[in-house]
Amino acid sequence: MGLFRKKLKQEHKVMLQAERAGGELLPEYHRATPECPHPERWSMYDSMTAEAEVLEFLSTLVTTIKPELIVETGAFLGVSAVWMARGLKRNGFGRIISCEFDPVVFAKAQEKVAASGVAEWIELRNASSLEMQVSGTIDLFFSDSELGIREQEIRRFLPQISPTGVILMHDASSHPGLVREAALRMEAEGLISVVLLPTPRGLVVAQKRAGRR
Ligand SMILES: C[S@@+](CC[C@H](N)C(=O)[O-])C[C@H]1O[C@@H](n2cnc3c(N)ncnc32)[C@H](O)[C@@H]1O
Repeated sequence: MGLFRKKLKQEHKVMLQAERAGGELLPEYHRATPECPHPERWSMYDSMTAEAEVLEFLSTLVTTIKPELIVETGAFLGVSAVWMARGLKRNGFGRIISCEFDPVVFAKAQEKVAASGVAEWIELRNASSLEMQVSGTIDLFFSDSELGIREQEIRRFLPQISPTGVILMHDASSHPGLVREAALRMEAEGLISVVLLPTPRGLVVAQKRAGRR
């Protein structure tokens, strides 16, 4: 049992915890950061799924900018995809392609999406963000996979992202800082312009510079 516990991936552990919590909202428990000193004022379903308020923001962003194509990296249980799909449903058009490379997590996400009432707006793929092929122009790109590869994802998909589109990078708080530094590095290179929203886990809202009018 000890060995099994040790081998349990973080994603699988949080998946089981989320199952046990049964959709109950909990106070956010990310550590306080200089930019977000009161994380407990936010709520969460689990530590992998975006903060509840960020989920609401995603849905509202979709009704605000009316994207035709959304790409999400890191579906986990499909919760953020479902919230964005609710926005698409209100808009009456558009689609989400969301990838999850862990097959166990992917299977659970498929179940959740199938039961969500918005499955027709979501294409879930059991694929890596660094390999999956997407055709067409991306209007909303939500980077929420492994922390260390978010920069690679943005660089990989940037040519396909619309100049009027929005790029989101989650987990951009100053702790651990990896995603924040990546976003600021790409900004310093002139690739994107960023706004750092002070949520507990941090959210970069960005836009690409090339083609901007
Ligand atoms: C933070 S969770 C995503 C949470 C989800 N977006 C939400 O808010 O409901 C990150 C997920 O990305 C997956 N992942 C990590 N690297 C990946 C990659 N290169 N391609 C696709 N999925 C990846 C992990 O297995 C994990 O389930």
